[in-house]
Amino acid sequence: MKGQQSWAELYAFEITRADDTPLYRQVYLQLRSAILTRRLRPGTKLPSTRELASQLSVSRSAAVAAYEQLLAEGYTSGRHGSGTYISSDLPEPIEGSAGRRKKPVPTINSDASPMESVANFIDVTVQSDQRPFNLGRTLIDARTTELWRKLSARTLRSLSPSHFGYSDPRGTIELRKTICDYLQAARGARCDPDQIVVTTGTQHAIDIVIRVLPGLDKGVWIEDPGYPLTRQALLAAGAKVSPIPVDGQGIQVATGIKSAPNARAVFVTPSHQFPTGVVLSMARRLELLAWAQEKSAWIVEDDYASEFRYGGRPLAALQGLDEGERVIYIGTLNKALFPGLRMGYVVVPRPLLRAFVAARYLMDRQPSTLSQAVVAAFMEDGYFAAHIRRIRLLYRDQRDELVAALKNRLGADLSVNAPDQGMHLVAFTRRGLSDVAIERAGRQHGVIVRAMSRLYVGAAPRSALVLGFSGYPRQAILPAVERLAQVVEAKSKPPRVKQQFASAKRK
Ligand SMILES: Cc1ncc(COP(=O)(O)O)c(C=O)c1O
Repeated sequence: MKGQQSWAELYAFEITRADDTPLYRQVYLQLRSAILTRRLRPGTKLPSTRELASQLSVSRSAAVAAYEQLLAEGYTSGRHGSGTYISSDLPEPIEGSAGRRKKPVPTINSDASPMESVANFIDVTVQSDQRPFNLGRTLIDARTTELWRKLSARTLRSLSPSHFGYSDPRGTIELRKTICDYLQAARGARCDPDQIVVTTGTQHAIDIVIRVLPGLDKGVWIEDPGYPLTRQALLAAGAKVSPIPVDGQGIQVATGIKSAPNARAVFVTPSHQFPTGVVLSMARRLELLAWAQEKSAWIVEDDYASEFRYGGRPLAALQGLDEGERVIYIGTLNKALFPGLRMGYVVVPRPLLRAFVAARYLMDRQPSTLSQAVVAAFMEDGYFAAHIRRIRLLYRDQRDELVAALKNRLGADLSVNAPDQGMHLVAFTRRGLSDVAIERAGRQHGVIVRAMSRLYVGAAPRSALVLGFSGYPRQAILPAVERLAQVVEAKSKPPRVKQQFASAKRK
């Protein structure tokens, strides 16, 4: 058998000379214990006696004696010239060791840990799960994949000492400059590279914001319905969360002022409200900015999918309207490119910058220099803009295919409009159909749709299906809509008993 990874070289021996136990026996006992508890696994190659003796500063004869005893007792097998290996046919591992089923670890009481209730909520979209119409999936074409390979290889070839060391917690200046140029041009943002902090994405940015903003325990507004990960992050941090209803113009600022006047911040998705897709109207934007200015409160703008705009005039970021430095702007490359990248950025108002950078530094010091170099090259060389142009067309086609199929096959049960932007659409159910029941039944038929009513906290929930269209090639869409139609039709048929009752009544 080929030796497994040689972790034995790194085994943390504790040899003591103050002990009466002979050194060879200490080595023997520790190795035997590591073998029995499976901390060193069967098949692992042990270091040579010469290496071990030198590593532990014991005599070679002590190492040889320990190995001979392990061999004699069957814990190891030696092959001439190829070293000593831990035997593959060992007795059962001893109690509490890694190989045996452990006693279940009690879970933390949910009252004691807010994270425990968050854990119940985790429902990750994994890219390998190809069931339409899950959210958060992106498509990457062959051109981008190939470019990514080339740029990564180029970056690896031109590594400089700066790639290997600690660097600015905000990210490299090259990447921050590029992001700043992009935001000014594409999103009408007001920024300077100094104010940009590179993060691993929106979630990381939200976490830093929550650590930095003062007084969130006094109140913070969120959109209702809204993005569950923002709400959960706030709840987990002990914030006093006030869900504020969203209507056709976006978050109802006046309701927020009335119902939670002491709020210190608001988290919003103004360009494409999640999940409804509503755009925050200009009147509401100005109202929100005026409130923040007057109360010295903060607006956290989550601008998660503005790259994918299919029609109409692109809306500038709310941050671009802000003259009082009250908006913290969060952008992500995990949607524009791919979620596995884990990269995003924040434009931090100057009064918060020092605290923000300090919080980021305490969390994980800095972003990875290598990934930043690849992304900076991708953006600077014009590939990012080209990628967005190509993928936007792809997503637009997928959106159109999905809307047409839904209207055609499910027009009587669902009301759907093509969104101008983003990667998902909302289909309102008709005739009293329950989105939750469709969500549940859909899963059994290989279709993932999200019930929008679940995303409401306090406001009256509307029944609708949230369908992601970005991650599914056109040819996957029709068959999936067909499966969805079967699910919806089964739900919309009156139960048999009722049918009989109805026909009996007619007679
Ligand atoms: C409202 C909203 N913001 C941001 C994101 C992106 O999050 P991240 O950058 O952490 O991947 C998503 C992804 O689904 C989202 O729905």
